[in-house]
Amino acid sequence: MRTAICPGSFDPITLGHLNIIRRCTKIFDRVVVCIMVNSTKTSPMFSVEERVDMVKRVVSRFPNVTVDFSDGLLAEYARQFEGAVVVKGLRAASDFEYEFQMDLINKNINPQLETMFLTASGKYTFLSSSVVREMARYGADLTGLVPEEIKSEIEIKAKQWRRNNG
Ligand code: PNS
Repeated sequence: MRTAICPGSFDPITLGHLNIIRRCTKIFDRVVVCIMVNSTKTSPMFSVEERVDMVKRVVSRFPNVTVDFSDGLLAEYARQFEGAVVVKGLRAASDFEYEFQMDLINKNINPQLETMFLTASGKYTFLSSSVVREMARYGADLTGLVPEEIKSEIEIKAKQWRRNNG
């Protein structure tokens, strides 16, 4: 069985993430979306539990996708899935530089682990979770950026943030 691991902080999941996940479901037998910790992102909008719950709801339409959480190293996490491949989306050359470095670090820890890159769909090349968080905090319309199922949750969270931050 061919397994893809789609790791990320998913704070929150965007339509760009979902596009990569959907394409993985056609290439791989099984797709594991793993919510992980990015230590450079220190003040998340959503708790890990909230992110897991949102991703679960959004990917429930795909029978071969499961959702997991790990606060460990990706290269160690991947060992439990025989022959699994990490799949990342690439939006721009700057993404490649970062992801190339991550791949080298992961291979240093787990030499068997391969990473494959899918280029982002043109309409999502500008899209990231941080863009969504920023737009939400300014009350912008998130239609076409995030899955409809989680849009109101993000808007509510952004309203709370505005109340707490003046
Ligand atoms: O969505 P993101 O924030 O770009 O995803 C990055 C993520 C979470 C996949 C990356 O930070 C990660 O792999 N975190 C787990 C810890 C790890 O393995 N770090 C890389 C080697 S130090």
